[in-house]
Amino acid sequence: MEVSLPSRSIGNSALRCSAIGLGTGKLRSASTGLSKTEAVGLIHHAAAQGVNFIDTADSYGQGESEMAVGRAIRGQREKFVIATKAGFRFSAAGPLIRIVKPLLRGLVRRFAGAERAISRARSGSRQMGVLRQNFAPAVIVSAVEASLRRLGTDYLDVFFLHEATLDAVQDGDLWNVLLQLRAAGKLRHLGISSNEPAVLDASLALPDLGAIETAVNPARPADLWPLLEKFSARGIGVIANQIYRGGRLLAEHTEEKSVARRVQIAVQDHGLTPRQILLAFALGAPGVASALVGTTKPVHLDENLADLRVLAERPAPDWATLRKSLQTVNSIA
Ligand SMILES: NC(=O)c1ccc[n+]([C@@H]2O[C@H](COP(=O)([O-])OP(=O)(O)OC[C@H]3O[C@@H](n4cnc5c(N)ncnc54)[C@H](OP(=O)(O)O)[C@@H]3O)[C@@H](O)[C@H]2O)c1
Repeated sequence: MEVSLPSRSIGNSALRCSAIGLGTGKLRSASTGLSKTEAVGLIHHAAAQGVNFIDTADSYGQGESEMAVGRAIRGQREKFVIATKAGFRFSAAGPLIRIVKPLLRGLVRRFAGAERAISRARSGSRQMGVLRQNFAPAVIVSAVEASLRRLGTDYLDVFFLHEATLDAVQDGDLWNVLLQLRAAGKLRHLGISSNEPAVLDASLALPDLGAIETAVNPARPADLWPLLEKFSARGIGVIANQIYRGGRLLAEHTEEKSVARRVQIAVQDHGLTPRQILLAFALGAPGVASALVGTTKPVHLDENLADLRVLAERPAPDWATLRKSLQTVNSIA
């Protein structure tokens, strides 16, 4: 039996998504070690708990995240709200990574420390030029077609330009191409994913922008919040990612001590756990339709969903107060 979960509209659209969405950034990466079957199982487990919003990208797991999502939604496409992104391209080393991935997963399983080493190599892949951004209209059109194929669907509910640059947001030809794909029914809602206030600000000028995706946690700079208010006032939905700051705000020995200390104070003030405080913060931020959790573990997802139920059953802490008590003076970008 499927469980129902609080749901919200994405901006003014008719699209309703679960208040918690599943982030698939690490679903099929080398460092997490999830097999195809486990990845599909996690999505089915999420769906059975009422999670209908799945966030992916063509670059996640070198395309294997979208493939797993495609497999999981086969035969039940209409039950899911699928968001994907494009804008990153792998260099010639990309296919090689896919080939050696099973080997890397084996290493992760066998050797402590291998996961950290692979994660480090992954974050360095942009500096090393393995992963480059390319928002040329023709490249984005072919990326959309490839995503549709991998996901086994003929439409995407939300399509984001992945970590869009200012140039990409201001490229009228690119946006026109996306509007044409929308008119053709391939993309239902167009979005911008970015953590850059200048990019988000520029995207307010885009006609028919449906959604933005950005990190929403207490470490974000204070100039993000007035921007989110503007999106919300215009009926543009906000998808919150990195609500635990990639897990760093949950770690016992976090390097982000000042934010973590404030979270602890909020925990005492509100009688909630750190995870619940961070979830309440993300869901309370202006315009947020869904807060993504980037877990690869069903047991963690269950905990996050239990947090959502706790928050739904009691008066939520006032967001403005929560923000004031959680934000450090020099929040990090
Ligand atoms: N540019 C973009 O558009 C962009 C950027 C970043 C992220 N995203 C999207 O947002 C999603 C989430 O971001 P994220 O994964 O980077 O950050 P996140 O959701 O803030 O944190 C994920 C981390 O939290 C841990 N976690 C989750 N639930 C937990 C629990 N109950 N107990 C203990 N640990 C828990 C996970 O570990 P376990 O796996 O061990 O549970 C993982 O290490 C991504 O998957 C992706 O879909 C998009």
